[in-house]
Amino acid sequence: MPNVFGTPHKGAEPRHEQVVFCQDEASGLRAIIAIYSTALGPALGGTRFYPYRSEDEALADVLNLSRGMAYKNALAGLDHGGGKAVIIGDPAVDKTEALLRAYGRFVQSLNGRYYTACDVGTYSEDMDVIARESRFVTGRTTANGGAGDSSVLTAYGVFQGMRAAAETVWGSPTLRGRRVGVEGVGKVGHRLVEHLREDGAEVVICDVSEAAVERVRARHPEVEVVADSHALIRTDLDVYAPCALGGSLDDDTVPVLTAKIVCGAANNQLAHPGIEKRLADRGVLYAPDYVVNSGGVIQVADEIGGFDFDRAKSRASGIYETTKRIFALAADEGVPPAAAADRLAERRMSEIGRLRAILL
Ligand SMILES: NC(=O)c1ccc[n+]([C@@H]2O[C@H](COP(=O)([O-])OP(=O)(O)OC[C@H]3O[C@@H](n4cnc5c(N)ncnc54)[C@H](O)[C@@H]3O)[C@@H](O)[C@H]2O)c1
Repeated sequence: MPNVFGTPHKGAEPRHEQVVFCQDEASGLRAIIAIYSTALGPALGGTRFYPYRSEDEALADVLNLSRGMAYKNALAGLDHGGGKAVIIGDPAVDKTEALLRAYGRFVQSLNGRYYTACDVGTYSEDMDVIARESRFVTGRTTANGGAGDSSVLTAYGVFQGMRAAAETVWGSPTLRGRRVGVEGVGKVGHRLVEHLREDGAEVVICDVSEAAVERVRARHPEVEVVADSHALIRTDLDVYAPCALGGSLDDDTVPVLTAKIVCGAANNQLAHPGIEKRLADRGVLYAPDYVVNSGGVIQVADEIGGFDFDRAKSRASGIYETTKRIFALAADEGVPPAAAADRLAERRMSEIGRLRAILL
């Protein structure tokens, strides 16, 4: 059973503020909402709808994901803490209006301590349904005044992070003439290809979906396609952009990676914590995933105050400076960028969170 409360002791990492189990037997809803921290404001993070094998597995996932959101939101410069929710079930079979609305009532019952959004297995249309029961929902469809598909600014943000990495490695932020490998050309990956081609990069792609590859090739016949991620990581690259699933950098792939920069949208790209040091030892600059892929959460956070795409885009442009700050701190303190990112996030949570002690 994952440890929610634990035994607090000096120096221990902070634990989750609140974990809520939600059940509605008639609709079949079984959900867990985890709030890691509200130090910076109401917790914000998506709802994952997934057929977990057990409640323990769902709990472990939501605890981990909500903590990750606190760090991501902190470095994205948002006034939001970290939270996340999971609904246990197969979205293809179990997702009904009644279940989503029952879930919405539990989100509402937290009275704004937690804002939900899309994640694996949930879409903007689902947020529209949940929003019929709760005010604390974002990532709705544009037809309902929402921010719509968050992959637009996720891809833009990854591109900004990549520019920061290019400047750090080659002294100039352009990707012109660089060979960039994009693994996974789904919602985010295909948009990243657009930014890269516009900047003049040479692009190599792979995807397990033939349709996804064809969509890119239809617009960009010049883009090279390789068979799979195994081939992509070994091909001659300047930048490797994982935009499919997590864990693609492991003990087998890091030694054969040819790229000088890793910067992509996928969450949890490093298979285990030792990988960040192995990348650094090989002279590969790793742009921390949760920093460069925060454009999506910046997009949906903007919806809370009334969505304005240009304002959200301008905020997502800040990913360029944040990524540069992380590389600079990593160099100053002699730690890998992933560790530097965590330090900066913790610093913001503590410095800004502390201000709430000043009573207004
Ligand atoms: N969409 C967002 O706003 C957002 C925000 C933050 C992080 N992310 C992360 O970015 C990644 C991509 O998200 P997305 O929304 O584009 O998802 P998506 O499902 O639209 O695209 C993923 C693509 O990867 C392909 N793929 C899966 N396994 C593969 C493999 N082994 N090799 C090559 N291709 C493979 C799929 O066929 C699909 O085309 C995910 O890890 C997601 O968690 C997305």
